[in-house]
Amino acid sequence: MKAVRVHELGGPEVLRYEEVEAPEPRADEALVEVAAAGVNYLDIYYRSGFHWGGHHRRALPYIPGAEGAGAVLAAGSGVSEVRVGDRVAYGISNGHGSYANLAAVPERYLVRLPDAVPLRSAAAAMLQGMTAHYLTRDTYPVASGDAVLVHAAAGGTGLLLIQMAKARGARVFGTVSTPEKARIAGEAGADAVIDYTSRDFAAEARRLTGGRGVNVVYDSVGKSTFEKSLDALAPRGCMVVFGQSSGAVPPFDTAVLNARGSLSLSRPSLTHHTTHRTEILARAGDVLQWIEAGKLAIRIGSTLPLSQAAEAHRLLASRRTTGKVLLIP
Ligand SMILES: NC(=O)c1ccc[n+]([C@@H]2O[C@H](COP(=O)([O-])OP(=O)(O)OC[C@H]3O[C@@H](n4cnc5c(N)ncnc54)[C@H](OP(=O)(O)O)[C@@H]3O)[C@@H](O)[C@H]2O)c1
Repeated sequence: MKAVRVHELGGPEVLRYEEVEAPEPRADEALVEVAAAGVNYLDIYYRSGFHWGGHHRRALPYIPGAEGAGAVLAAGSGVSEVRVGDRVAYGISNGHGSYANLAAVPERYLVRLPDAVPLRSAAAAMLQGMTAHYLTRDTYPVASGDAVLVHAAAGGTGLLLIQMAKARGARVFGTVSTPEKARIAGEAGADAVIDYTSRDFAAEARRLTGGRGVNVVYDSVGKSTFEKSLDALAPRGCMVVFGQSSGAVPPFDTAVLNARGSLSLSRPSLTHHTTHRTEILARAGDVLQWIEAGKLAIRIGSTLPLSQAAEAHRLLASRRTTGKVLLIP
């Protein structure tokens, strides 16, 4: 089969499109014919060798890609919940192997798709969708009347966060870097959109909340937004750092949380919010059902052939994408 492999860590150029042996599913795995693979910022971290506290390093060579959708071609002897021919999707935050024609995926991560949900939408929605789901329901359960600030609001996860927070009755403000991204975030339902490259987003968030500040900041940008995000929060507000697209947040004095008004701080991961099969089915089930019902719009901003994985990574890392980036084997 064709796949993209990483033989040494580095820039986008290390993503090599090549002929590799097809995977053999183990007893607990199904072989999925990948119709679309989701590209996530996470894939860039693994490729470039960034790893959280020494964990998560991949053995080389490896096939990147934590997310995909397609039909089940074969199932291991212990597989009982999916069958050959089923349309399935998966998003595994520490997973890999999707940048390929075929992927062997543990059954516990596979979700069968409702007929009305296209494979590409499913491939686009699983990882970022389950992420926005746990962020708005568990890390900080958004309540009606809350003011919410979402950074990188026109990004893959950002657009889903806007919609899920709006559905829970919040006022949602988004930050973006271009007028085009502002339009896209506004269309997704943001009540106000701030260009954080030219405006003081904390001052703007305070102005929009009558001086009080927001209840929660969902910050996937990290280094360049962290400090100011604390300024945007109301007393007892919640700072959620769930990514670091601009770089890692420097070491931090927790006394600052007290001084700024008994703030709380969370640094969550999808891994710890999809620990059980039941949890995966519940989160993915909600996301897919919202798509089916027309309540959650999935914006696929870029679709590239699998052979152009390096270009997909370049686009994502240089802020030139909106919504989801997909690779088509
Ligand atoms: N913790 C979790 O469970 C979890 C799960 C999924 C994703 N994430 C994290 O969430 C973040 C977003 O992931 P995503 O896949 O949805 O990507 P994305 O948001 O679609 O793309 C990244 C966006 O970040 C913004 N950005 C700001 N400064 C940047 C910089 N210096 N370099 C690059 N981008 C910058 C850009 O938007 P503007 O141009 O508008 O600034 C860019 O489009 C990533 O950090 C990812 O690791 C975490």
